[in-house]
Amino acid sequence: MSEPTKNSKLVAWVHETATLCKPAKIHWCDGSDAEYNALCQLMVKGGTFTPLNEKLRPGCFLARSHASDVARVEDRTYISCKNKEDAGPTNNWADPVAMKETMKGLFAGSMEGRTMYVIPFSMGPLDSPIAKIGIEITDSPYVVVNMRIMTRMGQAVLDKLGAAGTFIPCLHSVGAPLKPGQKDDFWPCQPDPAKKYIVHFQDEPAIWSYGSGYGGNALLGKKCLALRVASVVARKEGWMAEHMVILALTSPAGKKHYVCAAFPSACGKTNLAMMQPSLPGWSVRCLGDDIAWIRVGEDGRLYAMNPESGFFGVAPGTSDQSNPNAMKTITRNTIFTNVALTPEGDIWWEDMGVPAPAKAIDWEGKEWTPDCGRKAAHANARFTAPALQCPVIDPEWESAKGVPISAFLFGGRRPSTIPLVNEAFSWEHGVFMGSSTGSETTAAALGKAGVLRRDPFAMLPFCGYNMGDYFTHWLSMAGRTDRSKLPKVFFVNWFRKSPEGKWLWPGYGENSRVLKWICERVEGTAKAVKTPIGNLPAEDGLDVSGLKISKDEIKALLSVDAEGWKNEAVDIAGYYEKLGDRLPKALKQELEGLKSRLNA
Ligand code: OXD
Ligand code: MN
Repeated sequence: MSEPTKNSKLVAWVHETATLCKPAKIHWCDGSDAEYNALCQLMVKGGTFTPLNEKLRPGCFLARSHASDVARVEDRTYISCKNKEDAGPTNNWADPVAMKETMKGLFAGSMEGRTMYVIPFSMGPLDSPIAKIGIEITDSPYVVVNMRIMTRMGQAVLDKLGAAGTFIPCLHSVGAPLKPGQKDDFWPCQPDPAKKYIVHFQDEPAIWSYGSGYGGNALLGKKCLALRVASVVARKEGWMAEHMVILALTSPAGKKHYVCAAFPSACGKTNLAMMQPSLPGWSVRCLGDDIAWIRVGEDGRLYAMNPESGFFGVAPGTSDQSNPNAMKTITRNTIFTNVALTPEGDIWWEDMGVPAPAKAIDWEGKEWTPDCGRKAAHANARFTAPALQCPVIDPEWESAKGVPISAFLFGGRRPSTIPLVNEAFSWEHGVFMGSSTGSETTAAALGKAGVLRRDPFAMLPFCGYNMGDYFTHWLSMAGRTDRSKLPKVFFVNWFRKSPEGKWLWPGYGENSRVLKWICERVEGTAKAVKTPIGNLPAEDGLDVSGLKISKDEIKALLSVDAEGWKNEAVDIAGYYEKLGDRLPKALKQELEGLKSRLNA
């Protein structure tokens, strides 16, 4: 077959990979509708895909994964660079020479009997000077169709790459070669968890992923390229790759502010990104729900761009109450993975906001009834949907240079101590807030309630280098522009509870009240009080008009619990200790400053 590119490096890499992996066929993806449809039909024939009812969910498919292959595998995820210290204490490090040998051994013959797909993809709009091109080679058609939704993919990317352009090689195999005549599995993968490897060779850079066909393990443009690899490239090139939503908030007067927000998982990131504000006249528009690439623009402000073109969202819990715009986004052309199938050929999951069907087929393909004692959908069941289908997508979401950011938000699930919203005193104080981001586990999730897990900048699983150096990089942004042009930084917490265990804040669309205060702080109009932990809304600072909430509840949401904060400072100190000697001095000073203000 003649190759659809004159890029000799790419052609050589594809040949070299085919020699190693020994596929039966090579398919260069052109990204066309015809190709997408043909691959979907191929998977219907092979049992990977079930088409949904065309009337209820046009263009939608359901996939069920192998029961062992349902989520990202952090303990099998490696940062492979020459010096172990550069990976740092929060990453699994592997020596690149030894790891390359291990990986070559696993990939040898791994695609026998299968088609090897070559996926040219762009993270970021094709016309953007800050987009990055990757090439994923995979033996999974499921990966191809998901990558087509999540990235700009196909011939147009090869055209942009040209004969001499550079790309990040991303090699993926499900690790299940097929012998002649052997019947394929509906979800081929390596069932042995110890044989899965997600490896980032940061010095090249290159990504090699083996054994899993699921989400972030296999769609290599997402967590692997756009966060773990990009964070290293960004540090070298002076920009930032962050695990953040990008949204636009417009006031009734027509003033628009773009905001980036980072939250650990299970804190409602996608819900915030597409929120329907309860405050009359305010609107939220979505630009991205997971990743932001951020640079200093010509005017000195920070500009954010979403490198993805789709949403890979968690299905359970998504409902008309929690996220009506996500529910509208997934009405068509969506791939559902590990949700339940109703007798009508539609999908269902727990907390979908509609009654459970009398019977269904669960995510493992077994018959299910509401009283059977099992969940119908896997807790990490997903939808893959085109961003363009989101009814509140912002018109600027594909802007080549990104959008100017007014505020950064950090947040977590913190039942106690942390107020509803808190504004940092300075950039350094804001970086301190980001570095100490954490979330408390719930009894339902992990069996042990109230365990606080630090997840700095929500980047714990995604920072591709030493976390201390990453903090230093954040601090260094202040030296790259005029400080007055930097976004203001805020810490929010929708999850504070009363001593009796009752949620104090209604959340969802009511969070627009907090966003309003944030925008007005940016504009210099909202009232705040200075406290030892930061600037909090003044008593009448927050707009609670029309909200059923008592004065005492507002007070509780915005109170500074000095004893709780002293414990918080001790916990942060312990966490910093674990990060070792690359922790920047400026953050230790911020911690000391907090302690002395609390004791004053
Ligand atoms: C995701 C994650 O899938 O953060 O977005 O785990
Ligand atoms: Mn994420």
